[in-house]
Amino acid sequence: MTHTLFSPLDMHLHLRDEKMLETVAPLTAFSFAGALVMPNLVPPITTIEALLAYKSRILEATKDDTFEPLMTLFFRSDYTREFLEKASLHVTALKLYPSGITTNSEGGVASMDIEVLRPVFEVMSDLGLVLCVHGETNGFVMDREKEFASIYESFASAFPRLKIVMEHITTKESVALLDKYDNLYATITLHHLLITLDDVAGGMLKPHLFCKPIAKREEDKEALLHVSLNAHPKVMFGSDSAPHPISKKECCGCAAGVFTAPVALPALAQLFDKHHVLANLQAFVSDNAQKIYNYAPLKKEVILEKNPFLVPQSYSDVVPMFAGESLTWSIKDVL
Ligand code: DOR
Ligand code: ZN
Repeated sequence: MTHTLFSPLDMHLHLRDEKMLETVAPLTAFSFAGALVMPNLVPPITTIEALLAYKSRILEATKDDTFEPLMTLFFRSDYTREFLEKASLHVTALKLYPSGITTNSEGGVASMDIEVLRPVFEVMSDLGLVLCVHGETNGFVMDREKEFASIYESFASAFPRLKIVMEHITTKESVALLDKYDNLYATITLHHLLITLDDVAGGMLKPHLFCKPIAKREEDKEALLHVSLNAHPKVMFGSDSAPHPISKKECCGCAAGVFTAPVALPALAQLFDKHHVLANLQAFVSDNAQKIYNYAPLKKEVILEKNPFLVPQSYSDVVPMFAGESLTWSIKDVL
């Protein structure tokens, strides 16, 4: 049994830089036609020069494949209209991080006050730049995303022309917002469709499943599954594949991030097949994103087959989700 996907897209991806970029970028570029690349490098991507240089390094690392990196700028509330007009020629979205909320986000936004953000949000609305948001407060870890819901609502209602993507949503409250505001969209990861906090910390601690936002409750996972498996038009696949070297995961002070790039499509096929909705996978991994971002991807066909894929223990010094386990679907061919 085979299933073909056309131009799969990963609308939230961490590629890092240097050796790590060389290790992980080809793994995404092999099976995805494009990806929205996050800007949380050290230092973050805040200038056009840094963005174009990073894009060239990504293209160099992925030159053997048909793959387009869609670039993001690290959101700052002091960007001028003139800067954003120039940047808009090269940028697909701006990524807003609350300051200090996750990996390399120290230079993020300190206040979610609409009046502070208004000038940039207005220019973004005029230019059609998408706003991607890491939506967590600094409250109790299980409540951070739920507490951010009122901030999403304030953004969505005050800036109705701004397309806002709630990144890597993990709660039923975020899912409910999708149908409440025309201009709110969401990415959903593979891991949040598969795990709850129990899988991370209910037994022996699993550092390779530790990420931000932390996986939540069963009822949250069910809500995410419902909209993903039914290919709700406002949700897109965004892996949030976030590689860290083993030394930063298997240690005291584990970095947040699940590395899913090399397993994403086989694992999604397995999941959608299990729920008898393989036909909906195309919308979830490409068509919805094309409509939301008004984007025509490079042409690529990925032929998946129901044949076991034994996931490697590691790729260089990064451990993938399902390391050493067997998935029921694999990639047969890429055209
Ligand atoms: O788990 C995560 N890892 N969540 C994020 O928001 C950032 C990411 C990273 O860059 O490592
Ligand atoms: Zn991320």
